[in-house]
Formats: sequence, C-alpha cells, structure tokens
Amino acid sequence: MTSGEDGADLDDLTFRRPTEADHPRVVDVIDHWWGERRMRHLLPRLWLEHFSGTSWIVEREDGRLAGFVVAFVSQDRPDTGYVHMIAAEPNRRRRGLGRALYERTFADLAARGVRRVQAVTWPGNRTSVAFHRALGFRVDDGPGTQRLYGTPAHVDHDGPDEDRVVFTRDL
Ligand SMILES: CC(C)(COP(=O)(O)OP(=O)(O)OC[C@H]1O[C@@H](n2cnc3c(N)ncnc32)[C@H](O)[C@@H]1OP(=O)(O)O)[C@@H](O)C(=O)NCCC(=O)NCCS
Repeated sequence: MTSGEDGADLDDLTFRRPTEADHPRVVDVIDHWWGERRMRHLLPRLWLEHFSGTSWIVEREDGRLAGFVVAFVSQDRPDTGYVHMIAAEPNRRRRGLGRALYERTFADLAARGVRRVQAVTWPGNRTSVAFHRALGFRVDDGPGTQRLYGTPAHVDHDGPDEDRVVFTRDL
C-alpha cells in the first residue's frame, strides 16, 4: 500500500501517454466504467490521435487498464483547459487514482499556459459532481441554470435532454 503525495494507493500503477493503439481497449471499458451508460461514442479515435500530450493512461502491473484522462488546451482560449473524460476502474475507486489523474492534468495544462480548467458532467452523476467539487472545481450556478439532482445545471446544454453541470477550476 501507499504512496501518492496524499497517501493514495498507486504504487502498482504505471502512468503514460496514450497512443492511437490504445483506442480499442479504452473504448471497450467506457460503458461499463460509466455504470453501463452508453458513453463510448464520446471517445472517437481522434482524441488519442490529437490530444495525447495532455492525456494519460494508467495501467496495472498485469497490463490491464486502471484509468485514463483525456484533456486539451482550448484552441480559441489558450488560457483555458478542458477535461473531456476522466475515469478510474470500478474496483479501484476512492483510492486516489482520479485525483492523481487530475493532478497530472493540471500540471500538463499549467505548463502550457492554462489558467483555468473546465469540465462538464451529467447532473445525475453524483459521484462525478462530488469528485469535481473535491478537486476544487466550482459549479456554475449563473443564469440559465436550475437545480437538477440537487446540483445547479444547464438544461439541454448538449442538446435535447442532455443537461450538464458546468465546472470551472482556476489553476
Ligand atoms: C469520478 C471518478 C473518476 C473518481 O475516481 P476515484 O479514483 O474514485 O477518485 P479519488 O479516489 O481520487 O477521489 C477523490 C475525492 O473525490 C471525492 N469522491 C470520489 N468519489 C466519490 C463518491 N463516490 N462519493 C463522494 N465523493 C467522492 C472524495 O472527496 C474523494 O476523496 P476521499 O476519497 O479522500 O474522500 C470515478 O468514480 C469514475 O471513474 N467514475 C465513472 C466515470 C465518471 O463518471 N467520470 C467523471 C465524468 S467525465
């Protein structure tokens, strides 16, 4: 056991940059890791082709996938980073892996001049909301938001019935 900086249990894990060759195995776990929601279409191959330098894959000692994060620097707003997807294997949750992925992402983005990071999640994903709040993100509760599942959210943000909580964190 141990030892991330905050006591996380990460010693048996290897962090590396993803490659296009990782795409099939990442896509293969997505729906299951998101609680059997159909999410795999959110990660076409281009994400591992063009955003590898601000993304991470985590593998266990047996080579199986333990987690990943896909992030990028906004082309139109170079001071802003965006986290597209982040996940930890279901059997390894609450052991600091998600936090470790975000810490690496914050470092990547800060090194590229980013000052604030954004992410969105479905308001019914209470784990994601709690996780992002714990990582220091604030929830946008401004104009156009209403409370959904107890959290301020933008209704139809990503299309009909695609409500989203919008998170921002300063670096
Ligand atoms: C969200 C997710 C990445 C968190 O990964 P994780 O490795 O379990 O997170 P960590 O162990 O680093 O947790 C960091 C902090 O977040 C908060 N947190 C994480 N999971 C939580 C939960 N289920 N309930 C409440 N708080 C939670 C806690 O404050 C936690 O710190 P603590 O364990 O010391 O209390 C993981 O649950 C996951 O992969 N979920 C499915 C995919 C998903 O929804 N991704 C986010 C949307 S893109």
